[in-house]
Amino acid sequence: MTAQPILAVIGGSGLYQFEGLQDVETIEVDTPYGKPSSPIVMGTLAGKTVAFLARHGIGHFISPTEVNYRANIYALKSIGARRIVSISACGSLREDYAPGHIVIPDQLIDFTRDRKRSFFENGLVAHISPADPFCNEISTEIYQAVIQTSAVCHLGGSFITIEGPRFSTKGESNLFRAWGISIIGMTTSPEAFLAREAEMCYGVLAHVTDYDVWHTSEAPVSVEMVVRTLQENTHHAQEAIHNLVSALPEDFDCKCSRALANALMTNPPAIPAGTR
Ligand code: ADE
Repeated sequence: MTAQPILAVIGGSGLYQFEGLQDVETIEVDTPYGKPSSPIVMGTLAGKTVAFLARHGIGHFISPTEVNYRANIYALKSIGARRIVSISACGSLREDYAPGHIVIPDQLIDFTRDRKRSFFENGLVAHISPADPFCNEISTEIYQAVIQTSAVCHLGGSFITIEGPRFSTKGESNLFRAWGISIIGMTTSPEAFLAREAEMCYGVLAHVTDYDVWHTSEAPVSVEMVVRTLQENTHHAQEAIHNLVSALPEDFDCKCSRALANALMTNPPAIPAGTR
């Protein structure tokens, strides 16, 4: 049986497998929510166990709305992962976050409308706090790992998740810019919120692939543009993950692991008299 992973990587568009993993083992996991997007690939990197899951399936056949986010997070939790780094493509809503750059966001705005966004339902009510939706510790570690590569990296920024699969209109893009939002993507909500409910540390390494549709001198985002920029920059993510895994301590204590401590609302059922 493979050791508990020090890190789970959820690979987004353009990242369907992980280079440099050794002693690779593929695990099929089933969950109460169904199958995750892909089998989990376990392996060693820098001498430590790492788990990898392809968010859109291997070959990209699951749309952002159709990703089974609950199954993905549940599956990673069930193999003992405590920390997740999400690799995501995003559009930029500001001039200084240019295509090819990497952003480690610190805020999240949920503009999705057609997804299961909580594990809590059917008689079990809990309200977690996503005031700071990303784990500060893992986000700082991701930033430190990225700046050791040759990529330009920005620490901080608000990330909006739209439902997709279509890109935005110019009206929407300009509205998001007026709201001061930095980057735009299609998958970080509800993934980050589910990770918090699962008491896991979660941070994002977002590749800027385009200027969305607001820029007056750049062409509007297209799939071709996203794929081309990702292909040119995926090696930065691979290198950063290697740096991150090398640096991460096995033992850590983070408040993410206590996210449910004051979140449960449902009272325990009354114990019938005489059975105590
Ligand atoms: N992913 C990459 N670029 C994007 C954009 N402009 N909007 C939404 N998701 C994206």
